[in-house]
Amino acid sequence: MRWHEHSLDLLDQRLLPAEEHWITVEGAEGVAQSIRDMVVRGAPAIGISAAYGVALAARHAGGGDWKAEIRQAIRELSASRPTAVNLFWALQRMERVFHQCHSLAEAEKRLAAEAVSIHKEDLAANREMADQALAFMNPDKPVSVLTHCNTGALATGGYGTALGVIRRLHERKLLKQVYADETRPWLQGSRLTAWELARDGIPVTLNADSAAAAILARGEVRWIIVGADRITANGDVANKIGTYSLAVLARHHKVGFMVVAPSSTVDMSLASGADITIEEREGTEIREMRGIPLAPDGIRVFNPVFDVTPASLIDAIVTEKGVVHNPNITGMRALFG
Ligand code: MRU
Repeated sequence: MRWHEHSLDLLDQRLLPAEEHWITVEGAEGVAQSIRDMVVRGAPAIGISAAYGVALAARHAGGGDWKAEIRQAIRELSASRPTAVNLFWALQRMERVFHQCHSLAEAEKRLAAEAVSIHKEDLAANREMADQALAFMNPDKPVSVLTHCNTGALATGGYGTALGVIRRLHERKLLKQVYADETRPWLQGSRLTAWELARDGIPVTLNADSAAAAILARGEVRWIIVGADRITANGDVANKIGTYSLAVLARHHKVGFMVVAPSSTVDMSLASGADITIEEREGTEIREMRGIPLAPDGIRVFNPVFDVTPASLIDAIVTEKGVVHNPNITGMRALFG
C-alpha cells in the first residue's frame, strides 16, 4: 500500500496475478470496503490499512462534529472483518491518539503520523522475526519448507511474516524449495504467494492443498511455516482455513510446525482459540469461481475462512519480541505479560 497524506493506494489483491491494478481510497468508508471485499487482506495489512483509514477520516472530516466523524470511521472499520486481531489492535492505537487530540488540525497530523508508525513498525517486526526464526531453526544445510495462504509483502508492512522467514532463508542460501499450498477458496497461495516468490526468484512449487500429506510423506520438507490472524493466551492460533490440518500432518510426519506473527497478532485477552470469532464468508466463494458454477446451484456450503490450531501441535511461535517454544500459557505470559 502507498500512503499519500490525502489518499491511500491499495494494490487490488483480487486481480493478481493477472493484473496489477491500484485502487485509490480517500476515506475510511473506502478502506473498510476494501478490507471487507479482500482488496487488501492478511492480518497485519488489514491493521495498517485500517490505521490509514482513521487518518483519512481526520483528513477529510467536515467542519462540523469532527470527533463524531472519526468515531464513526473507527466503528465502521472495526466491523470490516472479525478474526484478525491486528485490525482491533491498530484501531485501539489510533483511538488512543485520537483521544489526546484537542483540535482537528492536531488530529490530522497525529493520526497520520501514528498510522505511518504502525506501518513502519510492522516492517521492522517482519525483519526481526526473520532473524529470530533463523536463529531458532539453525539449519546446517538448505531446507525445503511448506507454507499456506499468503504471508508476504502483500499481507504485511512489506517483507512478510512466514514469507519473511522464507525470504531470509533464501537470502542466506539456506532454502532449497518452498511448497506453496494453493489455499482454497481464495487461492492466496497460487495467486499471491507464488506471484511474490516467483518475482523475487525464490524457488517455489505450487501444490493443491490436498497434496500436502503426500509432499510431507516424501520426507523432503523440514518445516511448515505459516502466519496467524490471532494468537490467544494459551498459544492457540487462528489462521487461514487448512492450517490446522497441516499441523496434524506435521506432527504425524515429525516435521516442525512454526507460526510467525508480530506481537500485534497476540490477543492475551482471550484464554483459548475457542473464544475466537471465526469469520464465515459467502457460499458462492465455494460454489463458483469467477462466476463459473463449480457445484449444484444453491447447494448448502460451510465456508469458515479460518481455523484454530491448538498450541499442542505448534513447535514455535516466532514474534519480534522472541520465540515461544512449545507454546502454552506460561510461555506466552513470559513474553507477553
Ligand atoms: O483471509 P485472508 O487472506 O485475510 O487470510 C490471511 C491469512 O490467514 C494469513 O495467513 C494471516 O493473515 C497471516 S498474514 C501475515
